[in-house]
Amino acid sequence: VNHLLGIKYLKEEDIQLIFETADHFKEVINRPIKKVPSLRDITIANLFFENSTRTKLSFELAEKRLSADVINFSSAQSSVKKGETLIDTVNNILSMKVDMVVMRHPNPGAGVFLSKHVKASIVNAGDGAHEHPTQALLDSYSIREKLGDVRGKKVVIVGDILHSRVALSNIFALQLQGAEVMVCGPKTLIPKYIQELGVKVETNLHKALNWCDVANMLRVQNERMDISYFPSTREYTQQFGVTKDLLDSLDKEITIMHPGPINRGVEISSDVADSKQSIILDQVQNGVAVRMAVIYLLASKIKQ
Ligand code: CP
Repeated sequence: VNHLLGIKYLKEEDIQLIFETADHFKEVINRPIKKVPSLRDITIANLFFENSTRTKLSFELAEKRLSADVINFSSAQSSVKKGETLIDTVNNILSMKVDMVVMRHPNPGAGVFLSKHVKASIVNAGDGAHEHPTQALLDSYSIREKLGDVRGKKVVIVGDILHSRVALSNIFALQLQGAEVMVCGPKTLIPKYIQELGVKVETNLHKALNWCDVANMLRVQNERMDISYFPSTREYTQQFGVTKDLLDSLDKEITIMHPGPINRGVEISSDVADSKQSIILDQVQNGVAVRMAVIYLLASKIKQ
């Protein structure tokens, strides 16, 4: 398949191949010359229909370090505002001899939809509350780097599970690699189907943190809520915010992750975000190597 639309379409061996390829690129980008000529004949369009800092810049950097030609599109400054459809927009861009599309879109399934209507390799950079596959890949890669292996590890995903594409992609990726997964958050922010996925559910943060090896803290996605799911930010922080005091009260030292953007003092205190237990910036750094691997592997299929 010439696309990365979601983790649910991958097998464990696909993830291992991406990680082995990312290991090589991580070594490359630590050299004085951070660039390889692998994709000199490939053109990639980054289409962002929703805001992004990490994913957008990380994809662009990954593409440039592979020597691909790169064009960037942001819907806010585009002719989408004049009524042009997604398929027309993408087909116009592809007519300029573009080989691959990296797309973030607010609608779940936008990447799958596009893959059925245009002739290009599609990489999902986040589609609504559905999937964010490269985030889950870089998260697992970072766990593997920190703890040696993902298999057998206990990972709790804390926060707004209902609106989180990071949560769903992480659940699929972690289970595929043999990790145990728990979600923790207010009942109103945990979707009913979650237990059918074989995921444990816990509403007490202290218990969840005492169970896990790794806690992946999520932001409450107020922009995706059309009704009030939880009384107040202050109450959320009291019950589900991770603090240094809470970490110090646990039986063991756990690893703290966050996909970003973080809301300091809400789901994570500054002293935890900036502590030695946090691998938040390692995740961001690994994102470039992991995205280089994804793009390189997909491009090698285009070239065949
Ligand atoms: N983690 C993540 O997707 O961050 P951005 O929204 O800034 O890309």
